[in-house]
Amino acid sequence: MTPALTQFGDRMSHLTGVRAIMKDIIETLNASKASNSDQEFINLSAGNPVILPEVEQLWRDCTADLLTSSEYGEVVCRYGASQGYEPFIEAIRDDFNQRYGLALTTRNILVTPGSQNLYFLAANALGGYSTAGQLKDIVLPLSPDYTGYGGVTLYPEAVKAYRPSIELGSDPHSFKYRPDFDQLEIDENTGFVLFSRPCNPTGNVISGAEVQGIVDLAAPHNVPVFIDSAYAPPFPALNFTEMTPVFGPNIVHCISLSKAGLPGERVGIAIGDEKIIQILEAFQTNLCIHSSRYGQAIAARAIRSGALADISLNVIRPHYQSKFAVLEEALTQAMPNAVPWRLHRGEGAIFAWLWFEDLPMSDWDFYNELKSYGVIIVPGSPFFPGLKNSLKGEDWPHMRQCFRISLTASDEQIVTAINHLATLTNRVYSAQPALATV
Ligand SMILES: Cc1ncc(COP(=O)(O)O)c(C=O)c1O
Repeated sequence: MTPALTQFGDRMSHLTGVRAIMKDIIETLNASKASNSDQEFINLSAGNPVILPEVEQLWRDCTADLLTSSEYGEVVCRYGASQGYEPFIEAIRDDFNQRYGLALTTRNILVTPGSQNLYFLAANALGGYSTAGQLKDIVLPLSPDYTGYGGVTLYPEAVKAYRPSIELGSDPHSFKYRPDFDQLEIDENTGFVLFSRPCNPTGNVISGAEVQGIVDLAAPHNVPVFIDSAYAPPFPALNFTEMTPVFGPNIVHCISLSKAGLPGERVGIAIGDEKIIQILEAFQTNLCIHSSRYGQAIAARAIRSGALADISLNVIRPHYQSKFAVLEEALTQAMPNAVPWRLHRGEGAIFAWLWFEDLPMSDWDFYNELKSYGVIIVPGSPFFPGLKNSLKGEDWPHMRQCFRISLTASDEQIVTAINHLATLTNRVYSAQPALATV
């Protein structure tokens, strides 16, 4: 049966961005298994965090504690407040007040079933058509950014991303994106601003001054700025460069516990102005009543004891930071020096971002070619949601020249994969010698 869909149904029943590629990747891996082929793929596409033994043990211990406590029935056998499980909200409030000198009350905090869900609430409460029929933009100030932002709104025309300025490194193979304040427009047509810091897919951490610049542009227009802190300190603390979270009256600080080892429990947290929190909370009540309380109950224990912040700093961060170093070294050793490849500065998150200037084929074709070497990386083009809406018809080939590489594989797999990548890079550029200049 093929039911007739509404506009919303049509929009939400399609996979967007990287989820569409993931389907292709899963089919490739399944086809290889089904054909009993000798080819073992090295999969550098995963967004799923590695299960680190110390992290798994922490959640096991917290679960054991919950199971034996009198709180258990209250957590799993009863409905609770839409805002979230009270002991968890209090643990977040106390931790952030103490750590960052804030004066949060429990009314400043909302717990959602994962942070993707939080962006869905924000995108459809604050972006899209106003009651007066005016289109309110969801502004992504620096593109590329998290591909999931493209799928959260019922009105794709509302997502408006901006091209960054590109800062080349002092060596020929590094670069960094920066927000381009000459282009960025935040005004009365803006519903809210959204960006990730550290950034998925690039590992970029925009500076505190750049964050403040964006926040100051938004404040006079009463525009909230949602800072997606899925990789930020204090948990999972996946920043490899110094960074302090920025708070302010028009900032909604958004946290996820997924990269701190709890992706299956779906815990997202919004910290912000009480009025915004109330709007999102009411939306959530209509949508799903409230988040699951089990993940919140175990996380409350790990946050109160300080164990989560500690393990983030001493286990999770060093694990991925050392993977980035392995990847960077493998690229330096294997990649042809004469080809204009550049690695984004590795400042955080669990990915690396590669740019091939003047790539003589599309990112999709390169991705498919690399599959024949048994290596899977992610083509970069789905990480530019909403950029077309601000390019005004102009083409930006850069969108088809980048790749995301996950840092979740073993060191050996990373090195082997980069050797294959280097072979393909040589082949592709030497077929087009005119373009092979740095
Ligand atoms: C930058 C960023 N934001 C949000 C999410 C969504 O995370 P979750 O819904 O698991 O909290 C992800 C997931 O990978 C992400 O990378």
